[in-house]
Amino acid sequence: MDNSFDVIVIGSGPGGYVCAIRCSQLGLKTACVESRKTLGGTCLNVGCIPSKSLLNLSETYRKAQKEFNNQGIEVSNIKLNLSKMMYNKNKSVLSLTKGVEFLFKKNKIIHLKGKGSIAKNNTVIVTDDSGKNSNFKAKSIVISTGSVSSSLPGIKIDEKTIVSSTGALSFNKVPKELIIIGGGYIGLEMGSVWKRLGSNVTVIEFLDSIIPEMDKDISTEFLKILKKQGINFRLSSKVTGVKVAKDQAIVDFTDNKSAKKMRIQCTKVLVAVGRKPNISSDIIKAGIELDDEKKIKISKKFETSAKNIYAIGDVIKGPMLAHKAEDEGIAVAEIIAGQAGHVNYNVIPAVIYTSPEVASVGKTEEQLKKENVKYKIGKFPFLANSRAKVNNEYDGFVKIIAEKKTDRVLGVHMIGPHTGEMIAEMALAMEFGASSEDIARTCHAHPTHTEAIKEAAMAVDKRPIHF
Ligand code: NAI
Repeated sequence: MDNSFDVIVIGSGPGGYVCAIRCSQLGLKTACVESRKTLGGTCLNVGCIPSKSLLNLSETYRKAQKEFNNQGIEVSNIKLNLSKMMYNKNKSVLSLTKGVEFLFKKNKIIHLKGKGSIAKNNTVIVTDDSGKNSNFKAKSIVISTGSVSSSLPGIKIDEKTIVSSTGALSFNKVPKELIIIGGGYIGLEMGSVWKRLGSNVTVIEFLDSIIPEMDKDISTEFLKILKKQGINFRLSSKVTGVKVAKDQAIVDFTDNKSAKKMRIQCTKVLVAVGRKPNISSDIIKAGIELDDEKKIKISKKFETSAKNIYAIGDVIKGPMLAHKAEDEGIAVAEIIAGQAGHVNYNVIPAVIYTSPEVASVGKTEEQLKKENVKYKIGKFPFLANSRAKVNNEYDGFVKIIAEKKTDRVLGVHMIGPHTGEMIAEMALAMEFGASSEDIARTCHAHPTHTEAIKEAAMAVDKRPIHF
């Protein structure tokens, strides 16, 4: 094999593999280094994809148990077969990682198997499982090595009793009591899965709200709904330690307000307190500077402090989201090929795939207050949306925030059925600089959940029809 390339991408997650495909489309001779057995990174192997599979299957199980009989679908003897559910999840993961393999072949991308590190003179060293090193040259190198789970001081994740999201995606038995440290994305998605499958779930969150960066109206409603579903919350509480004794975990935490120390015993503990960039010492050795958040410092063109080395995805600033990394992968490929790659960071949607789903794009009301921007708001509840009503899924609402003077949409926040899909319309509207009036005058099919968006846009101007 010829050992020199135009581009070597290190890491095959959504940032890396998308970048490699775009490079190849642009006529660049491309290789992608991956140390995992299968392509696709955290997202496909132990993140977004398997969690969405379990969220979907566990929600069907819950509906079969709690709703079908009332809806005239008579079912009896509903039983959970967890190993079959896990088999389904694994099958979905495998088919998608194989899909990336196929795309690599189709685009003539060389998959370099092993751990990549950067040496001087544009060299990438790939160390395979047996420890053998091979050297490759690249005119440009893209670091896309993603992130790893964080823990707390003194808490050792063993992936048996104290688990990260990886362990929580593969329990072989439904834990009787599951304590989740952190009321963020992972905590609430995995908490929902195991609650539906029968665990007694308690989320311990340091702050006084869940998903702190979310619009306050949404997080308040979200908390109310999750509590109604039976998930227990201990907010404003700091976990100080977890011990394992005879297959049980003992979690110590302190109430931030009263300083009272507390202890709970449980079967499993999920540590979901965030993720940190996966930056190996070899990368730092290559002279690549880090920023204040200990992420790789980049220019507007994704260049690191080392010549011809670029970085994208979770290792650089911004939210750790697969689609943000994908867009950066495309942008950097185009920049390397001499085009004008660009990512609009004002319009990165975020979705939490619980039931109901939570989705947002743009600024929150709290951010706009801080920035002294004058705004107006339109809200519309799913309770008044006919499609949500007939489907018996009417928790939640759509909230549109528009600039007071220009009516330009600055942020959209939703909680409700299918909002994870609906947010794409709002991202598109914002990319085109839409006003709430533009959305209100766009014909939306009836009966659909998307009519709640049109009505919220009309509500900005105080003229919703159905509420
Ligand atoms: P997160 O940053 O979303 O939430 C972590 C939470 O842990 C925070 O609310 C924090 O206040 C709390 N915490 C920190 N220390 C604590 C302590 N000592 N005691 C109690 N609480 C404490 O992190 P998470 O959920 O681990 O997710 C990691 C990343 O993965 C996120 O950045 C997210 O973007 C990404 N992700 C995205 C998903 C999606 O797009 N649907 C799904 C899952 C993960």
